[in-house]
Amino acid sequence: MVKVIVAPSILACDFARLGEEVAEVTRAGADWIHCDVMDGHFVDNISFGSAFVEAASRHTDLPLDVHLMITNPDRYLDRYLPVAHSVDIHLEAEADVPETLARIRTAGKKAGLAINPHTPIGSIDPYLGQFDLLLIMTVEPGFGGQPFMEDMLPKIRAADELRRKHHLHFRITVDGGINVGTARQCREVGADVLVAGTSVFRAPDRAAEIEALR
Ligand code: DX5
Ligand code: ZN
Repeated sequence: MVKVIVAPSILACDFARLGEEVAEVTRAGADWIHCDVMDGHFVDNISFGSAFVEAASRHTDLPLDVHLMITNPDRYLDRYLPVAHSVDIHLEAEADVPETLARIRTAGKKAGLAINPHTPIGSIDPYLGQFDLLLIMTVEPGFGGQPFMEDMLPKIRAADELRRKHHLHFRITVDGGINVGTARQCREVGADVLVAGTSVFRAPDRAAEIEALR
C-alpha cells in the first residue's frame, strides 16, 4: 500500500501570517504543502505568484506541490521550479503539454497533470507515462471552500484502473472539497494524495484533522 499524502492548500491560510501558518501545518504532520497559483484568466480568481510561493518555502522543509491554474504554464514555469518538488499543469491550459511535463522532469521535479471536472479521464491517454502525478479536480477550480463533487468518484476509480492496467506508478491527487468524509471516499477508489485547504486550516486541531484525513 502506498502512503497517503496529506497536502494542506495554503490558499486557505491566513496570508498575513503565511510563515507561521506553513510552519504550523508542518509541525502538525502535513506531508506536502500545496500552493494554488491562479492568474485570473484560466480561472476567475487571482491568488498569488512565485514570490509568495518562495516566501512559503522558507518556513518549511516539506515538498512544495505547485498547482498552476494559469493559461500559460510554459511562460511562468521557470519561476516555480527552483522551490517546487512537483508542479501540476492543466491539460486544458494553452500549453504544449508533453513538452511542459518534460521540462518539469528535466529539472529533476515531479510532473503533475491536472484535469478539470468536465475533462473526461480518456483525455489523459496520450500523456500516460509522461507524468508522476494525476490531479483530479473535485470542484471547479478557482476557489477554496466549495462542496466536493461526488460524481468525480467514478473518474478517480477509472484513473486507478488505468494505472493498474498500464503498470504505471503515478499518484492520484484529489483537490477540492476534501474533508474527513470525502477523503475516505476518495481513498477507497484509489486516491493517494489529498489536498485540503479549508478542512485543515479551519480545523480547531490541525494535527488531529491531518491524521483523520489520512
Ligand atoms: C481550487 C484549488 C484547491 C482548493 C482546495 O481551485 O485548486 O486546492 O483551494 O480548497 P478546499 O479544500 O477549501 O476545497
Ligand atoms: Zn490545488
